[in-house]
Amino acid sequence: ISLQVNKSGGNASSPLMYGFMFEDINHSGDGGLYGQMLQNNGLQGTSPDLTAWGAVGDATIAIDYDNPLTTAIPHTLRLDVASGTTGTVGVTNAGYWGIPVDGSEHQTYFWIKGDISGDITASLVGNGTGTVYGSTSIPVSSNSDNFTYVEVSLSTEKAPDGDVYFELSLDGADVAGSSLYFGLVQLFPTTYKNRYNGLQPRIANVLEAVGASFLRFPGGNNLEGESLDNRWKWNETIGPVQDRPGREGTWSYYNTDGLGLDEYLYWCEDMGLAPLLAIWAGFALDAGAGTPLTGDALTPYVDDVLNELEVKIIINPLHMSIAKRRQYVLGDSSTTYGAIRAANGRTEPWNVTLVEIGNEDNLGGGCVSYTERFTAFYDAIHAKYPSLTLIASTNDASCLPSPMPSGAMMDYHDYNTPDGLVAQFDYFDNVDRSNSLLVGEYAQNDVEYPIMQGAVGEAVFMMGMERNSDLIKMASYAPLLQLVNSTQWTPNLIPFTQSPDNVVETTSYYVQQMFSVNHGDTIKEVTSDSAFGPVYWVASSASDSSYFVKLANYGSDTQDLSVSISGLSTAKLTVVGDDDPNAANTPDESPVVPVESTLSSSNGTFTFTLPAWSVAVLAAS
Ligand code: AHR
Repeated sequence: ISLQVNKSGGNASSPLMYGFMFEDINHSGDGGLYGQMLQNNGLQGTSPDLTAWGAVGDATIAIDYDNPLTTAIPHTLRLDVASGTTGTVGVTNAGYWGIPVDGSEHQTYFWIKGDISGDITASLVGNGTGTVYGSTSIPVSSNSDNFTYVEVSLSTEKAPDGDVYFELSLDGADVAGSSLYFGLVQLFPTTYKNRYNGLQPRIANVLEAVGASFLRFPGGNNLEGESLDNRWKWNETIGPVQDRPGREGTWSYYNTDGLGLDEYLYWCEDMGLAPLLAIWAGFALDAGAGTPLTGDALTPYVDDVLNELEVKIIINPLHMSIAKRRQYVLGDSSTTYGAIRAANGRTEPWNVTLVEIGNEDNLGGGCVSYTERFTAFYDAIHAKYPSLTLIASTNDASCLPSPMPSGAMMDYHDYNTPDGLVAQFDYFDNVDRSNSLLVGEYAQNDVEYPIMQGAVGEAVFMMGMERNSDLIKMASYAPLLQLVNSTQWTPNLIPFTQSPDNVVETTSYYVQQMFSVNHGDTIKEVTSDSAFGPVYWVASSASDSSYFVKLANYGSDTQDLSVSISGLSTAKLTVVGDDDPNAANTPDESPVVPVESTLSSSNGTFTFTLPAWSVAVLAAS
C-alpha cells in the first residue's frame, strides 16, 4: 500500500480532540482516583452499616447516631471499651478491597470524642502477615464533650500487594469503661501534585501520560441520578469534606463526593485539561421518579445551574462552609470573605468554557422533553455567559430544537463491536454539519478487558473523526477507570487493583495515548493506490513542521506500507498490535506493549510492515 501525504493545504483540527470522560463508576473515584483510601469512612447514607470496619482487642464497634460530627456526617464510629480492659484496643478499616500503600508519606485525618490522654497509633498492616508498612504514634488529649481533630503523618514502605488494612489503636487501660467516637477517618498517600484532598498519584500519572486535552465530568448516568433527589448536586460536593453529605450514586454504591467540583477543576488545572462541565438538566434515569421537569418546575434548577456557573467561574469557595458561600462569592478581596478566599489561595477564576446540558437525553424517555429543557438551560446560560460553548447531550435531531442555536455543539455516543466501530469509519462523512460534535463516549463493547481487535476498531473510528475535523471537535473514550473488585461496566480504559503498581495500560489505552500525543493541528490530504480496508489512515501536521501518519491494520495479514512525505528523512514508528485479535492487557498479564523504531526515508519515502491487528503512528520531522 502506497500513501503520499500532500504537504500543502489541509483542514484545521481541534486542539481539544482527545480527552477523558469521568464519572464515579466501578469505584473509579471513591476507591480509585480520589486519594482518600478508607471505605465507608463517614458511615454515610440513610442506612449506614459497618462495611470495612473492625474492632481491635477487647472492644466492640457500633454505628453511633447520637454524636454527629456535622449535619452532613451525622453518624460516627463508636468504640466501646469494657471496664478493666487492658492491652491494645482500636478500630480497623479494610479500605476499598485493600489499600495500595505506595511507599510515600501518608496522612490520616480524623475527629475523636472521648476522654483520652495518651498516644494514638495509626498503622498500615498486611492482612495475615502482620507486616507493618507504616506506623506513627502521637499524643492525643481529647474529651467527651467535643470532637478533637487529629492529623497524623506516616512514613511508609511500599507494600507488595493491596492486602493491607489501616488501624487506629491505643492502650485499652487508658480508656477502659468508656466509649470513643471516631468521625470521618481519612487516609491519603502523597497525592498527585501534592494537593490537599487530591488524587492517587499511581492512577493520575497513568492518566497524565495520555496527553489528553479535556475532561468531561461528572457523568454520565452518575450526573443524572436514579431520581430527582439522587442527582449530582454540585453544591453538596464543595467545601470541607466534613460538610459534604455524599449521595447514593447511580452505579450501586454510595459516593462520598470527596472528589467534588473543586477537585475536578484542580485535576484539570494540574493535568492541563480543559474542563467540560456537565450540568443536571431536569431528567433523572428513572423517569417515574419525579422527572422530567418541564415548565415552571424547571426554573429552580436553571437558577441552580446559574449559581453553579457563577460560583465556579467567578471564584472558588474551597474550604468555606456552605452557609458562608454566598458572601464568599459576592465579596471582592477587600471584604471579609473575599479576603479569606484570597488567603485560601484561589484568587483566579476557574477556566470553564465548555458546558454540557444533561447526559444522553435521547434515551430513557428523555427525548420528548429535551427540546424544552435544553432551550430553558441554553437560553439562561447563554444570556449570562455568551462566550461559553454549550453542548446538547445528543445529536438526535428529533430531541433537539430546530434549528439548533448556532455555535452550540452536540454529543454523540457509540459503544460498539469492533466490526461495528470499523463500519462507523465514514459515519461522520455523512452527518449534518451545521453544529460541531463532541463524541463524549465511545468504546468497544462485550468484552471484559479491551482486546486488540477492539482497539484497532476504535482507532479506525477515531480516524473517521480526525478526517472530519471540521465537525468533530472533541472525543472521549468511556468509561475511564475500573477497580476490578467492584465492576459495573466493562471494558474500561484503565483497570486497576489495589496492588500499588497494578494500574493496567490496556490495548485501548495505548491507542488513546498514541492518538493524543501524535495529534497535529492540520489534517492533510493523502493520496493512495488502495481503498480503505483492512488498512486505514489519516495524516496531520503540526506547527513545528512535524507530520503524523496514523495507521490501523484491521486484519490478520501483515501489510507492507510505503509512506511518502516529501523532504522528510527520519521518523519514529510506534506500533501496538498482536497476532491474536483477542489479546488483552489485564491485571494478571500485559502481553501487548507498543514498540518504537526509528526509520530513515529514501527520498521522503518510508517503508515498513504493519503487523496483523495493529495500530501505528509514523511521526516524521
Ligand atoms: O459510560 C457508561 C455509561 O454509558 C454512561 O454513564 C452513560 O452516559 C452511558 O450510557
